[in-house]
Order: sequence, then C-alpha cells, then structure tokens
Amino acid sequence: MVRYIDELQLTGKRVFIRVDFNVPLDDTQHVTDDTRIREALPTIKKVLASGGKPILASHLGRPKGVDPKFSLMPAAKRLSELLGKEYEVLMADDCIGEGVAKMAKDLKPGQVLLLENLRFHKEEEANDEGFARQLAACADVYCNDAFGTAHRAHASTAGMVPFVKEKCAGLLIRKEIEQLGKVVKHAEKPFVVVLGGSKVSDKIKVIENLLPKCQVMLIGGAMAYTFLKAQGIEVGKSRVEEDKLTLATKLLDSAKRLGVDLVLPIDHVCGTSPDAKSAAVDVLERAIPKDLMGLDIGGKTRALYTQHVRDARTVLWNGPMGVFEVPKFAEGTKSVAVAMANNRDAQTVVGGGDSAAAVNELGLAAKMTHVSTGGGASLEFLEGKELPGLKALE
Ligand code: 3PG
Repeated sequence: MVRYIDELQLTGKRVFIRVDFNVPLDDTQHVTDDTRIREALPTIKKVLASGGKPILASHLGRPKGVDPKFSLMPAAKRLSELLGKEYEVLMADDCIGEGVAKMAKDLKPGQVLLLENLRFHKEEEANDEGFARQLAACADVYCNDAFGTAHRAHASTAGMVPFVKEKCAGLLIRKEIEQLGKVVKHAEKPFVVVLGGSKVSDKIKVIENLLPKCQVMLIGGAMAYTFLKAQGIEVGKSRVEEDKLTLATKLLDSAKRLGVDLVLPIDHVCGTSPDAKSAAVDVLERAIPKDLMGLDIGGKTRALYTQHVRDARTVLWNGPMGVFEVPKFAEGTKSVAVAMANNRDAQTVVGGGDSAAAVNELGLAAKMTHVSTGGGASLEFLEGKELPGLKALE
C-alpha cells in the first residue's frame, strides 16, 4: 500500500519532494514545455497549505558532472511564475551539504526550496548509499511525485527512502497510477490501443501486455512497415527492423488467436527521405513503390483509425503515426489526436513522450482524460513492469 501526501500530518515538517523537472529548454535557457512543472503544483501547494516546508529535487538532462547548461535555475524561474506572488521560490546551489540543510531548516511559510540538479553528483544515478543518506538528512518526510523518473532506481527515487522517517507519493503520481492503471486493468470496452513510433523493438512488451486486454490495436509509425513486410507486402525503402520480422509474425498470430483486430495502414504518405526536403507522395494502396519510403499513414488509414477511435470507450495512444516533426508527414499523428479529443464519451489516455508532445503542440491536452508526464516510465508501466520509484514507497 502506498500512502499519499494528503494522508500525512505535515505542519512544520520539511517535506522532500522528488519532482521531475526534466523539461526542454531553448538556446536562451527558457523552458519550452512547462507541463511537468505545472503538474507538480498540486502537491507543492498541498504541502504549503498544510504548513509543511517543501524542498524540491529533480534531475535535468544527463550532465556529466557540474555543468551550468543543466542548471535547474530556468525551472525555478518558471515555477516561481506559476506559483505567483503569494509564494517565494528559493534556489540552492547544490542538492546536499550544510548550506542546503540550513536553507531547508530556515524555510518560512510560503517559501519553496528547489535544490540544484541531482545529477551534478554521479552518486545520484549510482544510487550511492552515502549520497542517499545526505539527501535524506534535510527531510522529515519523503514524497515522490516524479512519475517520469519512477522507472529509475536512483538515490533520490529509491535509495534515500528508507532513511527518511515518513514516506508517501504525491498527487501527480496518484493521478498517473489511477489513469494508466485503469487502462491496464479495467479498461471499458471497446478498448482501442494506438501504437506508433519507429521501432517494434521499443514496443514489444507493451504489445504483449496489452493484446490480451484490448479489442483493437491500430499500428502506425515506422514500426508498421516491419509488420507489413512480415506479411509479405512490399514496403520499398521504408525503415524496417529485419531482425524483428519473425517476432512481428508471432505478434500478428497472437492477435489473431486472441481475436484482437490488429490493424495496419492501408495507404501511406511517402517520400524519398524523412526530412522536409522530400516531396510528399500519396500512395493509395498497401504496397509501397520500391523507390519510396513510408513516412506517415495515408488518408484512407486516417479515416479508418478515426472511425475506430470514435467507436471506442477507452483509447490509449503511444507513439506518433509518422515523422510528425515535418508538417507534411504530421497529418496521421494529428488525426489520432483530434479523433481522441473528439470522443468525449471515452477515457482517452496519451502515454507520454512524443505523443504527449504532439498533443501539447496541437493544444489538445485539455481535451484528453489524461496525458502522462512519463516517457520511459509510462512505457514501462504499460508493459506491466514494477517501477522502482513506486516499489520503494510500499
Ligand atoms: C524522462 O524525461 O523520461 C525522465 O525525466 C527520465 O530521464 P532519463 O531518461 O534521463 O532518466
């Protein structure tokens, strides 16, 4: 059993909140997508409202040692803007040490302390016990709200937990577990899974875990060409994982055996290369000419997939339908997002990463039941794996 932040008495306590502020920054060190910061606000505000002292810790990127490019300062700035004038955000220049301990102790009501990037210490990812104890030293309560990092067994997500008196999960983690858990365990039928992305190999375990639970699986992205080729269909110069053809055949057989309608593209938008220079060529049938590569699902496929999404009571989507960074190859991804947003009767869940970025870019996030903040973490959750960051809280 995991306890949640709103079940604890927090008055006067220093609450270490592991957040996932691993957000994208532009060249001028501005946060370009603040979703993860906004999603952490309910837990932070809960602690403040309960008279606790929030001490936030996160990683940003994958720095090798201390590197100002990976400072959490831009995140502190954005957090401060989002919290408004009522609250003050203080930024520490490290995540351990006497200075941090003093700042944590001296926090006043309405103040939030953000520690500097945990990964400036290699001990974080090594889950070093000494480092974990140092992190724990500044806290009375440990709260994990970093769903996006729950698949990592690092010092701040797992190692430090036994060294803090009380432990719990935050409100974002609760939302993620409830929404993703419902899809995996109690999805209302018809349950339609939409999977895309470039590689079958990235999605094998998700496919295996969800095939017995769903009624329809729609496949897009480059992984579709491996499935088509496994069926003996010509895919031209499309990206194919040759070493996964046998596996693709096995997955197609499993779908048939389980009575799942595994749907592959029936037409394509093709080109000569996956970049903006290539002209977009509509190929109106399954087979792709030898000199072209598939780069998006075609118009007939878009209509077919939209129909399936419209008829669903639960829709889970992970992975783009084409090279969505290039506008002429983005229509497939857009059509899935729009179809989900328009189905107001279904539980619609976007499983993080590229598909979440696409939904945010299209301004459709608010129309979904849930957009996960996890990339790798939501994928592992959907694979049915136990996440170390959640296990540590039990
Ligand atoms: C993510 O963005 O998926 C999480 O923040 C985890 O980051 P990592 O893959 O660098 O551990």
